[in-house]
Amino acid sequence: MKKYDLPPLPYSYNALEPIISEQIMTLHHSKHHLAYVNGANQAIDRLEKARRGENPENIRSILRDLSFNLSGHKLHAVFWTNMAPPGRGGGNPGGKLADQIIKDFGSFEIFKKVFSDAAKNVEASGWAVLTYDPEGDLLFVYQVEKHNLLHPPDLPVLLTIDVWEHAYYLQYKNDRGAYVDNWWNVVNWDDVDKRFSKI
Ligand SMILES: [Fe+2]
Repeated sequence: MKKYDLPPLPYSYNALEPIISEQIMTLHHSKHHLAYVNGANQAIDRLEKARRGENPENIRSILRDLSFNLSGHKLHAVFWTNMAPPGRGGGNPGGKLADQIIKDFGSFEIFKKVFSDAAKNVEASGWAVLTYDPEGDLLFVYQVEKHNLLHPPDLPVLLTIDVWEHAYYLQYKNDRGAYVDNWWNVVNWDDVDKRFSKI
């Protein structure tokens, strides 16, 4: 049965320097993301055993682990491709996405402030996410706690920033705000636009 694999980064571990250090990227991808991939695969193994009656575990504990680890895997996979080396990343979005941002937020600057505020104010570990809901023809920003709490269901992740301490602490210490402010210099708007165009 096909399970989950750690996707390779679309750039080298030092490519996002000086915004995100090689040490952070190496640990974040090869240790933290890998642990979520392994955790999701293990939860699925436990589910298969439970179906065969070989696992007396509480189903709630297995499904909780699956939700946490699979959400962690999925969010990291988007996060890596949402970024590009400084020079290629950063700047402003273009095309249809830029028009939608202006329609829904008033300006790119206001959008940036809304997204940054969400990221800086996630309680403990989590993420800020930009999504688009075709039903309301609306872009909006939400927060995720841990990897799997507060997600609106059935909405695509267009742009996300990881604000777990493992994403910045080795370089920015406790200054999550500086990390978020600098992170805009590595946002890969082509990737965000591609995700928006596919909806
Ligand atoms: Fe992370």
